[in-house]
Amino acid sequence: MNKQFNIQNLIRENVKGLNPYSSARDEYVSDGSEMVFLDANENPYENGVNRYPDPQQRGLKSVLAEQKDISADNILLGNGSDEVLDLIFRTFCEPKIDNIISLPPTYGMYKVLSGINTVENREVLLTENFQPDVEAILNTVDEHSKLLFLCSPNNPTGNIFREDIMVNLLNKFNGLVVIDEAYIDFAESESWVSRLSEFPNLVVTQTLSKAYGMAGIRLGICMASKEIIAALNKIKPPYNVNELTQQKALERVLDVQSVKSEVSSILNEREQLLKVLREVSFVEKIYASDANFVLAKVDDANKRYSQVLAEGVVVRNRTTQPLCENTLRFTVGTPTENKKLIEVLNKLT
Ligand SMILES: Cc1ncc(COP(=O)(O)O)c(C=O)c1O
Repeated sequence: MNKQFNIQNLIRENVKGLNPYSSARDEYVSDGSEMVFLDANENPYENGVNRYPDPQQRGLKSVLAEQKDISADNILLGNGSDEVLDLIFRTFCEPKIDNIISLPPTYGMYKVLSGINTVENREVLLTENFQPDVEAILNTVDEHSKLLFLCSPNNPTGNIFREDIMVNLLNKFNGLVVIDEAYIDFAESESWVSRLSEFPNLVVTQTLSKAYGMAGIRLGICMASKEIIAALNKIKPPYNVNELTQQKALERVLDVQSVKSEVSSILNEREQLLKVLREVSFVEKIYASDANFVLAKVDDANKRYSQVLAEGVVVRNRTTQPLCENTLRFTVGTPTENKKLIEVLNKLT
C-alpha cells in the first residue's frame, strides 16, 4: 500500500466539515449519581424505555472491546451490519464520482447500496475456486476506487478467502478494504480484527444476526482504526441502536457458553448435511463451507427449488448469480429441520 496512506484523503469533503448532531444524551453523560433528567423532552414516567438510549452504546462496546482485544474507540455499532455498510458508503464515497469494487458472486447489499448512494459498483468475478482475482481487481481500480468489499466467509459460496490474497489486496489497494465477517464464527480461521493495527485501511464488519442468533434485534459491528470510526461517527444517526437491542445484545455477548454450544451444534449438523447431500441423486456438486450454509449444484435449480418449496421447505435459489448456475443454498437448521430437508430431497424424482 501507498506509504503515505492518509485516511483524511478518503473521507468525503462534506463529511470532513460536518459537525455531528449533538444529542441531549451526548451532552450530559451520567456519572451514576441520582440526577433529574429534564434535558431531552422525554416522558418522565418510567416504563423501561421512556429514556433515549445511550448514543455511544458504552456498556455493550466495553464488553465487545474486551472480547475482541481492541479499544472501544475502534468500534462503531449499527442497526444491523447493513446500516454499518451504508454508513461506510456515505462517509467515503462521493456520489457520481467515486466507485467501489465488489466480487460476485457475493452478498447482494454491496450492489444495492452502491445503487442507493449513486456510487459506481465495479464488479470483478471471483475465480473458479471462488477466490478474489487480485490481478483483475488491481486492473479495475482507479484513483476514485474508495472501497473494496471482501466477504469472507463469502455468501453464497461459503468459503473463506485465502490469507495471502487478502494481505496482497490490503497492501496494494489504496482505498479501504472492508472485510465482511458476518459468518466468521462458523469458520476455523481467526478474524482479521486481530490485524487492525497492521493495516490502516482495514475495516472489519461483523453481526449478531448469524452465530449469535439475534437477527431480530439488528446489531451490526464495525471495527477499524480510531480515525475511520471517528469519521463514521460523524454521520451516524444519534440513536441508531435502540435500548432493547442494547440490552439484549449485552446479555447475549456475555453468554459466551450458549453461543459456543449453538455454533458447535450447527457445525455438527453442517457435517451431517454435507454427508447426506452427497447421496442425493440430483446433487452434482457440494461446495466446502466455512459458514452456516451449504451451496450445492443440482441438475435443475428452478425445478428443485419449486419442488422443495411445495413440500414446505424454503431454501435459496442462487442460479441467477454468476458462477452459481443451478445452485441452491441450504441454511443449516436444527436437527429436526435438517431431517425434514433430507427427507424431502430424497423423495424427489
Ligand atoms: C455477508 C453478509 N453480510 C451482512 C449481512 C447482513 O447482516 P445484518 O443482519 O447484520 O444486517 C448478511 C446477511 O445475510 C450477510 O450475508
